[in-house]
Amino acid sequence: MRTPIIAGNWKMNKNPKETQEFLDGIKGKLAESGVEAIIGAPAIDLSTLVAGAEGSPLKTAAENSYFEDEGAFTGETSPKALSEMGLDYVIIGHSERRQYFKETDEDINKKAHAILKNNMLPIICCGETLEQREAGKAEEWVTGQIENAVKGISAADLVKSVIAYEPIWAIGTGKTATADQAQEMAHVIREKIASLYDQDTADKVRILYGGSVKPANVKELMAKEDIDGGLVGGASMDPESFLALVNYQN
Ligand code: 13P
Repeated sequence: MRTPIIAGNWKMNKNPKETQEFLDGIKGKLAESGVEAIIGAPAIDLSTLVAGAEGSPLKTAAENSYFEDEGAFTGETSPKALSEMGLDYVIIGHSERRQYFKETDEDINKKAHAILKNNMLPIICCGETLEQREAGKAEEWVTGQIENAVKGISAADLVKSVIAYEPIWAIGTGKTATADQAQEMAHVIREKIASLYDQDTADKVRILYGGSVKPANVKELMAKEDIDGGLVGGASMDPESFLALVNYQN
């Protein structure tokens, strides 16, 4: 009953021309997979992305936004403006933003509220470091991140939102968490949502796995009960690879 998602996160890659080339590469090839296909692109590429996605099943995501709609915040991106441009989703709390740009759980919670208020949906990222995993602290850390991120969000809003579990040690390293490790944490996250809300809400929210997802391992990950999709960096940048991910069932 949960529609699967394949969401690309291009990170700080591609310019508008390369974005258009990607869109040309997937044009007319997305229909009928039963999978919700999303591309998250840098702010500078979003006009091209939204224009190219129009009239196609492709959904669009920004990789970040600020939590205020407008004002004296030099260099930030307004969630209101993103919504007016036609963006569907905003990725928030990615480990790279937490690590390099010092985003806190509180920032991420404010961003989630701002995104929902502006009629877009957050893709809320969480994940532990290798150190935390080895110390047996991964579950406590990740469920804490989720609890803080969803504070004050209604069940009605949460069921439309997306959670992405991305163990930091698996991002861009080629080291995928095993499908069992990914499933285990996705299940823990769903149980946390059930305890914070209720079982019905937990059963509806979509939980993605991210970290070295590629066409060769996507099927095994997607077969797991609590994994509803992938948040994909490297393997989402090439049209053929992205299409292979979206069509993982074939
Ligand atoms: P890779 O798929 O390149 O490991 O990146 C994962 C990621 O961080 C997606 O948000």
